[in-house]
Amino acid sequence: MSSHNLKQRITEDWDWRSREYAGRSDMYLQTEKQQRLWHETLHGLVAPQGEGPLDILDVGTGPGFLALQFARMGHRVSGLDLSPNMLEIAAKKAAQRQLMCTFLQGDAEALPFADHSFDVVANRHLLWTLPRPGKAIREWMRVLKPGGRLLIMDGDWTNRHLSRKQKLRIAMGHTLTFFTKGKIPWKGKGRGYDDAAHLLPFSGVDPGKVIALMEAAGLQAIEEHDVQHLLAADAESFPLAYRWSFIDSHRRFIVAGSKAE
Ligand SMILES: C[S@@+](CC[C@H](N)C(=O)[O-])C[C@H]1O[C@@H](n2cnc3c(N)ncnc32)[C@H](O)[C@@H]1O
Repeated sequence: MSSHNLKQRITEDWDWRSREYAGRSDMYLQTEKQQRLWHETLHGLVAPQGEGPLDILDVGTGPGFLALQFARMGHRVSGLDLSPNMLEIAAKKAAQRQLMCTFLQGDAEALPFADHSFDVVANRHLLWTLPRPGKAIREWMRVLKPGGRLLIMDGDWTNRHLSRKQKLRIAMGHTLTFFTKGKIPWKGKGRGYDDAAHLLPFSGVDPGKVIALMEAAGLQAIEEHDVQHLLAADAESFPLAYRWSFIDSHRRFIVAGSKAE
């Protein structure tokens, strides 16, 4: 498949699942505690870049989960995504919350920005969906200012790190959801993606792989941050079966690194 057709296919797929994905995304940040914990974490990660409003790019912004939080913190934020439907949802949320944010369509692997445009490039749950993650990271480096910071938030969706107790809890969550909602959560969500399985194996990405890709792209001072406390707080307001089957059983992380001065 040509690169153009592939991107078109990916765009159509995320357009198709945008509403369901955004609905799930709305389950986060429900309580003051969740908002405070996310705020503290994001603030801590970007604070080394300086006090004033920063220029921040959220790549693969989807419904704007990170972009809107950075905008609320007073930063100048651009949110980029391939999917027009996702961007429409994100823009609507920004308007409802009276937040200033620029949303635009574009490809994470070929950004429509000049070199050295941003203090921070961030993304959440994007890397594992990309056919060429190494190329994407080099592109994010290009648009970072010297000394700028790259934040990659992602997760490992496999059960290789789970205990037997956690696996049992997931199975119970799946069963409960199957009987109450008629479907198994997180299974068969793609439409057409699955036969391009090398793209979206639904296994997420291991933090070690992210670190290796960042090192290969020349990032420095790379640190892995544990975000299980954020997950635990987010999960408090989820329905029980959903919590069991997914949220508090999967490993998520943030890897941060800096571009040389
Ligand atoms: C799993 S969602 C994550 C959305 C959001 N970052 C979040 O945390 O909820 C992945 C997003 O990446 C977008 N995406 C996938 N490939 C992309 C690419 N090459 N360039 C830009 N966006 C892309 C999809 O359209 C989708 O909105």
